[in-house]
Amino acid sequence: MRVREARVDDLDAVIHVGVTTWRATYPPITGEAYVEEGIVKWWSPEAVLPGIQNRRVLVAEADDRVVAMAAYTPFEDHLMLWKLYVLPEAQGSGAGRELLTEVIARAGDLPVRLTHLVGNGRAHAVYERLGFVETGMETSPIDGGPEEIVMERPAGWFVSKPTLLGEKVELRPFAEGDVETMARILADPEVLRLTGSVNSTAEIEAETGVPDQRLREWYATRNAQPDRLDLAVVDRASGALVGEIVLNELDASNRSANFRILLGPDGRGRGLGTEATRLIVDHAFRTTALNRIELCVYAFNPRARRTYEKAGFTVEGVQREALRYDGEYVDAIVMSRLRSEHLGG
Ligand SMILES: CC(C)(COP(=O)(O)OP(=O)(O)OC[C@H]1O[C@@H](n2cnc3c(N)ncnc32)[C@H](O)[C@@H]1OP(=O)(O)O)[C@@H](O)C(=O)NCCC(=O)NCCS
Repeated sequence: MRVREARVDDLDAVIHVGVTTWRATYPPITGEAYVEEGIVKWWSPEAVLPGIQNRRVLVAEADDRVVAMAAYTPFEDHLMLWKLYVLPEAQGSGAGRELLTEVIARAGDLPVRLTHLVGNGRAHAVYERLGFVETGMETSPIDGGPEEIVMERPAGWFVSKPTLLGEKVELRPFAEGDVETMARILADPEVLRLTGSVNSTAEIEAETGVPDQRLREWYATRNAQPDRLDLAVVDRASGALVGEIVLNELDASNRSANFRILLGPDGRGRGLGTEATRLIVDHAFRTTALNRIELCVYAFNPRARRTYEKAGFTVEGVQREALRYDGEYVDAIVMSRLRSEHLGG
């Protein structure tokens, strides 16, 4: 699957996507007359060409064939997504998601707005998954046509904070009361040493495990961060909060982010870390245009390295002697996972 800007010589293919998808999808919702009127109004060459010339039309190609299209316009205070259509035979292939995440990435600091016909539950579900929320209703631009639902997605790559369910873990947004548990986990000697948070055993001994004001503010504000994703890791067997998992340091221009995870003693060594890593990585690649997730693991932490390898990360280099611990230097191993490895193509 490849997403690119449409060229003028894609005009016929873009129209083909729109007309075919309209005729396959809308008659049961709108009736035939609306469909034919809409095709004349919105899918004529005169209606489609200006968007292509203004570089506001994207296409998704599979095997060098255009299977999906999107058209948008950036305004001062929002980006309007006018059209998003995937040929019936390509639906479920990820083409719609690839186009939508690309449009969201191009929106940058602008919220994205769209409308869809009342009754198009499938489209509604896809948009919700990518962070759109219903904001209102609009009457049809065609006389007698069905009403349209308006949806908007606030700006930011990680505006929506999901709950992700695995077999062993649940990843969920932080809630009030989590800070006490997190303070204890963050003071765990293994966590402190293996995450490079301290430089000596003496510093570990000074940790109290009691949250101060800075830590309270930190966890109280995690869900309001549009450009990073901090989730609590819950052990489903006990319902207990056992750690946290984070995508941070977003580099939107290069579509790259950093990953980190830490589990307290109650969460380790039972496969929770591997499953949690797989869940957040999958979520990130499926709901954003992220191309690369990278991490650093210290050479004295083979368990974490093994966890990341199991979750599909590849070692790509070593930052030599990056950490000083109790007077010894420790290498940091750089690992990454790419969108193409994860989603294929
Ligand atoms: C690293 C961490 C997230 C891993 O999560 P986890 O739930 O403990 O790990 P899992 O049980 O999913 O998998 C651990 C794997 O490492 C293996 N392992 C454990 N100790 C190991 C060691 N000393 N050497 C090599 N592999 C080791 C386990 O056998 C298992 O692999 P397997 O399934 O093939 O047997 C978690 O242990 C943790 O948070 N540790 C403390 C903080 C930390 O190190 N954070 C990461 C900083 S980069």
